[in-house]
Formats: sequence, structure tokens, C-alpha cells
Amino acid sequence: MEKLKILALSGSLRKVSYNTAAIHALKSLASSHVGVDIVVGDISELPLFNPDRENEHIPALEKLKSSLNDCAGLILATPEYAHGISGPLKNALDWLVSSAEFPNTPIMLINTSPRASHAQESLREVLVTMSGNIIEQACVSIPLLGSELNSAGITENEELANLLTKALGEFCIEIEAGKL
Ligand SMILES: Cc1cc2nc3c(=O)[nH]c(=O)nc-3n(C[C@H](O)[C@H](O)[C@H](O)COP(=O)(O)O)c2cc1C
Repeated sequence: MEKLKILALSGSLRKVSYNTAAIHALKSLASSHVGVDIVVGDISELPLFNPDRENEHIPALEKLKSSLNDCAGLILATPEYAHGISGPLKNALDWLVSSAEFPNTPIMLINTSPRASHAQESLREVLVTMSGNIIEQACVSIPLLGSELNSAGITENEELANLLTKALGEFCIEIEAGKL
């Protein structure tokens, strides 16, 4: 049987980003514990959103849309900047607003900084407006800010690994249930 594929996007472009590290940790936990293939997407090459360009051939956008189409769900992890969502992630979502691929996509949110509630609230509002399907049981908060952990450190930390694996397990259950 083919593995369930899920697209994951980090809203941070930082090399040592906690959000990106959480996604890579989840990818490695997913293949060894949950039997799921996490496809890590790249939003860094997308141009700034401009509705005038929506019909242009933009390779980074076509790749993002085709990954979304190939995957059964979407995982998002964003930093909070000045109480908002990261610009790169909002930019990527703006490109997807009028895409046929996005509505009803099951979504899991990872918050790597439990103090950062504004960005999470704002992200939820955007996703609901775009008709995304946020799966509450799959939304997880892990305290990485200030931890200095990289992806290997996260997978080796039993508590964090359990939180991520449990949330992903719930996400998969809901995705499978939605297919019935
Ligand atoms: C310009 C700037 C603004 C920030 N604003 C906030 C904020 O409003 N609230 C917050 O909780 N953290 C804020 N932070 C902290 C980041 O969210 C935090 O460093 C986060 O780990 C960055 O994500 P990353 O590690 O994935 O790159 C800010 C950081 C920067 C650089």
C-alpha cells in the first residue's frame, strides 16, 4: 500500500529555525513511527504575491501547488513576528487563496513557541477564510524557543518526540476518516 503523503511548510527562512527543525524532526519520526511520508516544501523561492501574476508560469508556485495536490494534508509551522504570521508563509498562502488545491485540505499546526498566541490566532483566521480544514486534535504546541535544539535533538527528546508523534497520529486518523 502506498504511504500517506503530507506536505509540511515552515514559515521561517532562518538556517537554524526551530519551526524548520520541528518539521524535519517530524519527517524523521513519521517514517520510523507512523509510516507516513512528510514532503518538506520550500516557500523561499516564491515571488511576492501579486494577483496580476496569477496566470504566469512561476516554477516555485507550480511545484507548491503540485505538492499540495499530491499530498493528503498540510502541516504548517510559523514563527510569530510582531504579533503576526511570518511574511513568507502569508505570502505563500496568498498565492494559494484562489487555487483549486487548497479548499478542504486537512491542516495540522505546530506552534514552537507557546507564548506566541497572536500568530496562531491570525493563521487560523487566514486558513478558515481559505476554507482549510484545521484538525484540532492534530494541533500541537512544543516549547522549542530558547532550547537550542535542532531536528536531531527534538527526535531524541522523548517528551517532544511523543507530542509530535501523537499529534501526527491523530492527523492521520482524521485524514483517513475523511476519505471514507
Ligand atoms: C523581528 C522579530 C519579531 C519577533 N516578534 C515576536 C513576537 O511578536 N512574539 C513572539 O512571541 N516572538 C517574536 N519573535 C521571536 C520569534 O518568533 C522566534 O525567534 C522564533 O523562534 C523564530 O522562529 P524560527 O526559530 O523558526 O526562525 C520575533 C523575532 C523577530 C526576529
